[in-house]
Amino acid sequence: MLTGRTAVITGGAQGIGLAIATRFAANSARIVIGDLDEAKAKEAAASLNADAIGVGCDVASDSDVVALLEATAAAFGPVNVMVNNAGITRDATMRKMTEQQFDDVITVHLRGCWNGTRRAAGIMRDSGGGSIINMSSISGKVGFVGQTNYSAAKAGIVGLSKAAAKEVAHLGVRVNVIQPGLIRTAMTEAMPAHVWEQKLAEVPMGRAGEPDEIASVALFYASDLSSYMTGTVSEVTGGRYM
Ligand SMILES: NC(=O)c1ccc[n+]([C@@H]2O[C@H](COP(=O)([O-])OP(=O)(O)OC[C@H]3O[C@@H](n4cnc5c(N)ncnc54)[C@H](O)[C@@H]3O)[C@@H](O)[C@H]2O)c1
Repeated sequence: MLTGRTAVITGGAQGIGLAIATRFAANSARIVIGDLDEAKAKEAAASLNADAIGVGCDVASDSDVVALLEATAAAFGPVNVMVNNAGITRDATMRKMTEQQFDDVITVHLRGCWNGTRRAAGIMRDSGGGSIINMSSISGKVGFVGQTNYSAAKAGIVGLSKAAAKEVAHLGVRVNVIQPGLIRTAMTEAMPAHVWEQKLAEVPMGRAGEPDEIASVALFYASDLSSYMTGTVSEVTGGRYM
């Protein structure tokens, strides 16, 4: 479904990002994994059965994102699919959250996503179009206790993506958003067991999602199957908070 296309996935060294890279590779895309952890990004790229490279990149840094897209162009040509997936959590109730924890989460998610969206769109507009996929969270729709920083950033990604989608739609660039629910990755495995069980009880389908179930939705948005979709938000939550 992605033959001849070059896809960049930020935060792709593990978890949901790696599942997306793997699924895209299985659909014949050329893959660039950008991650804060350069060694792990290279390792992940080497593990894919595809043309793939790993690049060290902090999405919060505009110059890093520019360098990531330059490395992409040098290896495989201009980016056709950009997945802004890199993320962190710094959970704490408002009473205890530090300004640093607030700023770190806003910077990585919101500014990181803005950097990736505008830099990729700038390239795609010159090359005839492309697909940008931004990773939000159901936390941005409903708000979670202990996540005033994360819920704000993830809600912000929806607004950012819709505004960007309107700016570049006439250039053939589509921008869409995925809101995962409870997905089994390192990020969620760090949760205490009783919190995991509480969250699981809220899922109508009665189970957590697997990273590959986010990857299949990303593949849909990356491919021509979604050619008339832009500015949309897909909840991939097993029905939680529908
Ligand atoms: N796991 C879930 O249940 C869930 C639910 C909703 C949304 N999400 C979102 O999905 C995305 C992926 O989450 P995950 O569960 O795979 O997390 P993860 O912690 O397993 O992986 C995140 C990756 O992002 C990288 N990263 C962190 N900061 C970075 C930066 N500044 N620049 C570049 N790379 C950076 C990390 O090194 C890591 O490889 C995140 O945006 C997360 O908020 C996850």
